Amino acid sequence: MNTLHSIAQLRAAIARAREDGKRIGLVPTMGNLHAGHIALVEKALQRTDYVVVSIFVNPLQFGPTEDLESYPRTLAEDQSKLLDAGAHLIFAPNVAEMYPGGMEGHARVSVPVVSEGLCGASRPGHFEGVATVVSKLLNIAQPDLAVFGQKDYQQLAVIRKMAYDLCLPVQIMGEPTVRAADGLALSSRNGYLSTEERRIAPTLYRTLKQIAEQVQNGRHDYVKVMEEARLALVQAGMQPDYLDLRDALTLQPATPETREMVALAAAFVGKTRLIDNLCFKVN
Ligand code: PAF
Repeated sequence: MNTLHSIAQLRAAIARAREDGKRIGLVPTMGNLHAGHIALVEKALQRTDYVVVSIFVNPLQFGPTEDLESYPRTLAEDQSKLLDAGAHLIFAPNVAEMYPGGMEGHARVSVPVVSEGLCGASRPGHFEGVATVVSKLLNIAQPDLAVFGQKDYQQLAVIRKMAYDLCLPVQIMGEPTVRAADGLALSSRNGYLSTEERRIAPTLYRTLKQIAEQVQNGRHDYVKVMEEARLALVQAGMQPDYLDLRDALTLQPATPETREMVALAAAFVGKTRLIDNLCFKVN
């Protein structure tokens, strides 16, 4: 399994795989891989013949006060995990390869409406950075299938809408969140947590489950349900950023008529911002 750093090399390798009649899968990541990423690779391996994993910490999607500098870069460990998983190729460009003329005047891809609110409200420009880099990666690799985690629920919705609106010839697939035994969603940012913060962190998922339970039991006073959930997070020692109940398909605010819902949350544990979500049906 090779690691390539240039777009030209990647295109040549993918062209060879295509000549051999292979279907191409792409798993875009920022590295520091955990079991959640490996599940995405496994899905791509089931559905395609030649799986490329990109590892690129994309500066365009980080705000000025965010953790771009400290974001874990662990290429050697990632390479060994991907070799074990059976990936075929790693694409690990540097910033100059992806943004040769710098980022300031670089073309941007923005996906209005679905990028607004939730993480889009707390992280201005984040989804524009994600949509821009993902559209570049899709153009570079031209995969048949690209696989993303459902933990980043709004991100997946943004990417799906972008691919649909721009008629990108790729299937976008979302894979369920992989969790630790205590329910905490696996995330590269979990590595920032102290022992005490790690103990508190599963409250986020527990709270989402409580919201789902209340709504499935017939509560329609969503504002109150969310206030109670917010209080539960605060009492556990977390600082909620947002808690929201949306239509799982459109991401529009849930109403008592909504049948497929998603509860979404972002909260700080100490300095670490965690996100999670839970989809559920209401009869
Ligand atoms: O989810 C991530 O790791 C990143 O946002 C992505 C999709 C690789 C784009 O940089």
